Amino acid sequence: MAFRTGFFSSSVGTKVLIGITGFALFLYLVIHIAGNLLVFFGPAVFNHYAYVMEERNPLLPVIEILLLLVFLVHIYRTVRMFLGNQAARPARYALKKPAGRPSRKSLASTTMIVSGLWLLAFLLVHVKAFRFSPVYPWGEGGRDLYRQEMENLSNPFVAGFYVLSMVVVGSHLWHGISSALQSLGVDHPTWTPRVLTAGKVFAVAIAGGFIVIAVWVYLHQVAAA
Ligand code: HEM
Repeated sequence: MAFRTGFFSSSVGTKVLIGITGFALFLYLVIHIAGNLLVFFGPAVFNHYAYVMEERNPLLPVIEILLLLVFLVHIYRTVRMFLGNQAARPARYALKKPAGRPSRKSLASTTMIVSGLWLLAFLLVHVKAFRFSPVYPWGEGGRDLYRQEMENLSNPFVAGFYVLSMVVVGSHLWHGISSALQSLGVDHPTWTPRVLTAGKVFAVAIAGGFIVIAVWVYLHQVAAA
């Protein structure tokens, strides 16, 4: 236990912990988008998904608490590491230059703290709207999540905020997935480049998929008005 506490307080251990929690959040997003794509099948299918997930799933409270803990550890450790790195830096660089190859430094990597804090703000708004707001009951059991999603995203400012936030999600994942794999020691001459490319494909697919959902729901509501 002492070893583990010591290891996770070291700078390597911090990166490993950020990598593990980041990867867990990525897996959550894969499941989350899979469930949310069911919105395209209409209210009956989407609300049945919500009913099974929320009313027929005894593990839900455990999963929600674990998810919250993973989020908190990920945010706390990344912010603390960022502040530590800032304090250790003697002076701000007068001129920021691209690092060039083989460095993996990119716009996405240098803006990780900003994209992460944006996502924290997005999550507060998002979880409040979908988890802690009044619900419409669904005749066949559970809540009318379809109606809730349609109403939430019918506002152009909300839909715009979602689209922008999904671009930020894509940017965060673009760098985050490869960084997490590197911190977890994935290092194979043939497989690592392929896994890193797969990570970028996932980043674009998740962000793109959520953008399509947000835009579709908004246009669906405009057409229905
Ligand atoms: C267009 C984009 C998105 C839509 C339409 C959407 C939709 C939803 C819906 C319908 C729920 C309530 C039911 C459920 O859990 O599926 C929900 C909950 C949630 N979403 Fe999203 N989501 C989006 C993007 C995101 C992103 C990018 C994140 C994370 C960065 C996220 C994190 C969460 C969390 C943490 C919850 C609460 C889960 C719980 O009840 O414990 N969502 N979202």
